[in-house]
This record gives sequence, structure tokens and C-alpha cells, in this order.
Amino acid sequence: MHFLKSAAAVALLTGAYVVSAETTGEKGNAPVTENNSDRIVYEAIVQSDDVQSVRLNFTGTEDGVGVLVHACFTGISETQPGPYPYHIHDFVVGEGGNCTATGGHLDPYVRRDDPPCDPEAPETCEIGDLSGKHGKASEEASTGTWCTSYVDKYLSFDSEDVAFIGNDRSIVVHNANKTRIACGNIVLATSDYTGGGTAAPSPYSNATSTGEPPIATGGATKVGASGLVLGVILSISAMLL
Ligand SMILES: *[C@@H]1O[C@H](CO)[C@@H](O)[C@H](O)[C@H]1NC(C)=O
Ligand SMILES: *[C@@H]1O[C@H](CO)[C@@H](O)[C@H](O)[C@H]1NC(C)=O
Ligand SMILES: *[C@@H]1O[C@H](CO)[C@@H](O)[C@H](O)[C@H]1NC(C)=O
Ligand SMILES: *[C@@H]1O[C@H](CO)[C@@H](O)[C@H](O)[C@H]1NC(C)=O
Ligand SMILES: *[C@@H]1O[C@H](CO)[C@@H](O)[C@H](O)[C@H]1NC(C)=O
Repeated sequence: MHFLKSAAAVALLTGAYVVSAETTGEKGNAPVTENNSDRIVYEAIVQSDDVQSVRLNFTGTEDGVGVLVHACFTGISETQPGPYPYHIHDFVVGEGGNCTATGGHLDPYVRRDDPPCDPEAPETCEIGDLSGKHGKASEEASTGTWCTSYVDKYLSFDSEDVAFIGNDRSIVVHNANKTRIACGNIVLATSDYTGGGTAAPSPYSNATSTGEPPIATGGATKVGASGLVLGVILSISAMLL
């Protein structure tokens, strides 16, 4: 009897598991990304007549794993019902703020959004399905401001990676019935090489001109600090000259 009961429980659990089973993309699951420099910032300012302010930023992490996302949604028109899904889309916003021109979700592993993303298995979701993985923007965004932040382990700052978010992608915000209500392009805001001088490498390069170790390994902060010292020395020399 006891055995039968547990067998039934196992069958039930297995059944439940099958029902909620995540679907893997045609090209597999998304790998966890590495080497995303915390000195790089991408930004998206999402606009339309229906939103007061929706802004997202994307920065690398201290250990380089994944990308840290901050998002704040303010004053979404009360004519647009929430909660609000939002995603990274494939193309830039079209002329006149045309959100349709942004195409579909960033989905290099060909997962698509049906069945819906299981947030317990984010590696199986569309790369661009930010709200599927991390939750929709709350209806609070309609009467005030609602913010969130999280690390998404599958976004990449590497231009060679299919999960790269910097190659003319955009953010689209939808209302509860999936209508696209606002959109904005993801643009490079800073690569932390604003100090000038001649030694500024591209934001994606591994090493500084002084032959220091790769930027995006654990040494990121150290390289940044010595860069700052170098900058100060350069400014002082400039003043003396
Ligand atoms: C990250 O950088 C390290 C050191 O350069 C390298 O060994 C590793 O393969 C890189 N990882 C990825 C996913 O590119
Ligand atoms: C990203 O957005 C958050 C929330 O609005 C803000 O506090 C933070 O300063 C921003 N970070 C960058 C690097 O812009
Ligand atoms: C979705 O909601 C918007 C705003 O309330 C409305 O204009 C539109 O007709 C709705 N679309 C569908 C398919 O329900
Ligand atoms: C918006 O973009 C879509 C897709 O590119 C296009 O078919 C449509 O005509 C555009 N709408 C307007 C109003 O330009
Ligand atoms: C980064 O370093 C790796 C290995 O040292 C090299 O293959 C790659 O081309 C470098 N990337 C850039 C952008 O310099």
C-alpha cells in the first residue's frame, strides 16, 4: 500500500513535470556567457505617446558572467493594460517610431515563445525574452514607477556571439494583450574609455596597449584602476608641458 502510494506520487510528479517541461530551442539551449566587461554600458530609451519614461541599461558583471540589466518603467498610459511583457527584438526601430519594424524576438537558438518561457529553466528560453525569464513589468508602472534589476546569464557583449545585444537590436514593450506599445534601440552608452589619450582600444578588445592582461577576466577592476592612474599621470604631464 505504501509502495503503491509512492508509485502514484511519482507518477503524478512525473506527469506534472511533463506538463511543465521546458522546450529547448531547435539549436539547443543558450550557453552562459563570459567575459562581459563591467566597463561597458548599453542603454535603451523606449518611447511612444503611451509611456512617460522607460529606460533600460545593460552592463557587464564583475566576474564577466552574464549581463546586469536595470530597467525602470514610468507612467505607462492607463489605456494600456499591464502587466507589460518586454523583449529584445532583432532590428532597430523603424521610421517614425515604428515598433513593427523591429521584427521578432532575439532568438538565435530558435526556441520561439510557444510554449511560454519557463523562468526555472531560462537557458531554454528565447535569449530576447527578458520578461519571460525575469518577470513582466508590473502594472505599478501605470500609476508610478516600477524598476527591476537582474543578471541575465545568456546575453553577451561579444560581437562574435549570437547572443550579442549590441548589433542594432531594440527593446519593445507590449501591453497585456501583446500589442507593441513602445520601443527603443539598444545603443552603446559607454565603454569607459572616455579618458582620452591615444591608447583607447575598441570596447571589445582584450588588452590595452600597455600589454596588460585581458580586460574581461577577473582583473577588470585592476586594469581600470591602473588606466585611471595612467590618465591622471598623462593629464599632469600635459599640464606641465
Ligand atoms: C573568456 O576569456 C578567457 C580568457 O581570455 C578565454 O579563455 C575564454 O575562452 C573566454 N570565454 C568565452 C566564452 O569567450
Ligand atoms: C542603470 O539604471 C539604474 C536604474 O535606473 C541606475 O541606477 C544606474 O545608475 C544605471 N547605470 C548606468 C551605468 O547607467
Ligand atoms: C489591445 O489593447 C489596446 C489598448 O487597450 C487596444 O487598443 C487593442 O484593440 C487591443 N488589442 C486586442 C487584440 O485586444
Ligand atoms: C512599419 O514597419 C513595417 C515593417 O517594416 C512596415 O510593413 C509598415 O509599413 C511600417 N508602418 C509604417 C506606418 O511605416
Ligand atoms: C581576444 O583574444 C583572443 C585570444 O587571445 C583572440 O583570439 C581574439 O581575437 C581577441 N579579440 C579581440 C577583439 O582582440
